[in-house]
Amino acid sequence: MNHIAVIGCQWGDEGKGKIVDFLTQKKSISTIVRYQGGNNAGHTIVIKGKKFPLHLLPSGILTPNKVCLIGNGVIINPQVLSDEINKLKKQVGLNHARLIISHKAHLIMPWHIIRDTIAGGRIGTTNRGIGPTYEDHVGRRGIRLIDTQTKIRFAQRVKQELAWNKKLIKLMLDVNHINPQEREQLNLGHRLSAKQIINHYWQILTKLKSNPQIDITDTAVYLQQTQNEGRRILFEGAQATLLDIDHGTYPYVTSSNPTIGGLYTGTGFRPRGLEVIGVMKTYTTRVGNGAFLTELFDDIGEKLRQDGHEYGTTTGRPRRCGWLDLNIIKYAKLINGLDSLAVTKLDILSGLKEIKVGTGYKLGSKKIDNFIIDNHQLEKVKVIYQTLPGWHEDISGVRKFADLPAAAQNYIHFIEDQTNLKVKFIGVGPNRKQIITKP
Ligand code: GDP
Ligand code: IMO
Ligand code: MG
Repeated sequence: MNHIAVIGCQWGDEGKGKIVDFLTQKKSISTIVRYQGGNNAGHTIVIKGKKFPLHLLPSGILTPNKVCLIGNGVIINPQVLSDEINKLKKQVGLNHARLIISHKAHLIMPWHIIRDTIAGGRIGTTNRGIGPTYEDHVGRRGIRLIDTQTKIRFAQRVKQELAWNKKLIKLMLDVNHINPQEREQLNLGHRLSAKQIINHYWQILTKLKSNPQIDITDTAVYLQQTQNEGRRILFEGAQATLLDIDHGTYPYVTSSNPTIGGLYTGTGFRPRGLEVIGVMKTYTTRVGNGAFLTELFDDIGEKLRQDGHEYGTTTGRPRRCGWLDLNIIKYAKLINGLDSLAVTKLDILSGLKEIKVGTGYKLGSKKIDNFIIDNHQLEKVKVIYQTLPGWHEDISGVRKFADLPAAAQNYIHFIEDQTNLKVKFIGVGPNRKQIITKP
């Protein structure tokens, strides 16, 4: 039986968490793995009406007796991890089999968050320190979990990094013309005290390490053992294809590889037997800056935002909303080698008389059938739309594809025809059970 990867096709928030939680219910799935990103991700799972927003823990954590794994490609803010574990413990009591965290994973440090706060505005980042942590990772300056084996070793690394980060931050404040009031708000004296940082991180990490349900180890070894023993692994992408540092809408991207390559570098999984499922919404959303060709600024855009609750799980920012752009999905297929699709939020389109779908672009008289990565060219193209009939019925209670209104079935078939991919799952509501498995 193949392992499964769940990867976002658009600009994030496609409902990856919900699909991963759903697939975790399969008996055959033993281990659920996050492979990149950090707490910039917000994956909301809804079980019996109760919301569980997850930022760092794999979305398999709400199902008993599964192993959850955080790979080396994920960057970790220990405070966030600890808060997330404690909150879930209180809410539901955690009964996962084990949480395994790669000792190669890098830590998000206070200076990363400060650097992101000063410089992330142009991109519209989540201000969680993501970009700067990955910068230090490739700059070979990062602090990894492996560096926290002893307090002396950890303290040494913190002091080394803090010394030059103080200088860097001063320079950044000047270059970015940050005024005295804003500087004060950053509270640098407190946040950049070596003693404070070392003691705070040490306290949290010691507690995490003493948790009998947590192992910090080489997750690559664990995953390959899992593969050798024929147990099934489910990979959970965070962010999405167009936010990929290499394949996305650069520079308006995140700083990791949510696409398929990131799964391998972020875990050490042996490349064998993997089914890749692309998750997409029936429309498009984006948080942060950058081009968005099918964006709507009218009542329909507002309807999608309100009905779809399109406000960021992590930052609460309103998400930009627009029609589905199939060139994006075709691009996600190309980059990730998608085998099939999971389409979420079909219920949100209910009530629209007509639904428009972007089926291609036009540059002058030339038709373009793939996504354009050159921002300058992207500004010049026009979207070609096809208009499909809508439906008015509430479909949130439907559980069989055949019971969907004909126009809703037609919408799904249209996506299948245009992308040449099979739609396997269809979301009709946020709850765990509101999903249709398409025959
Ligand atoms: P992720 O980041 O890809 O995991 O997606 P988010 O959790 O950030 O955003 C998706 C939002 O849509 C969440 O609030 C989900 O509860 C919700 N959701 C997921 N699938 C569906 C669906 O099929 N219908 C509706 N109405 N909501 C959904
Ligand atoms: P999930 O996993 C949507 C966006 C930010 C910003 C850009 C860079 O929930 O789909 P970063 O903080 O990563 O440096 O910000 O990427 N972004 C997301 N947008 N969903 C996410 O994650 C995102 N993670 C980052 O809004 O535009
Ligand atoms: Mg999200």
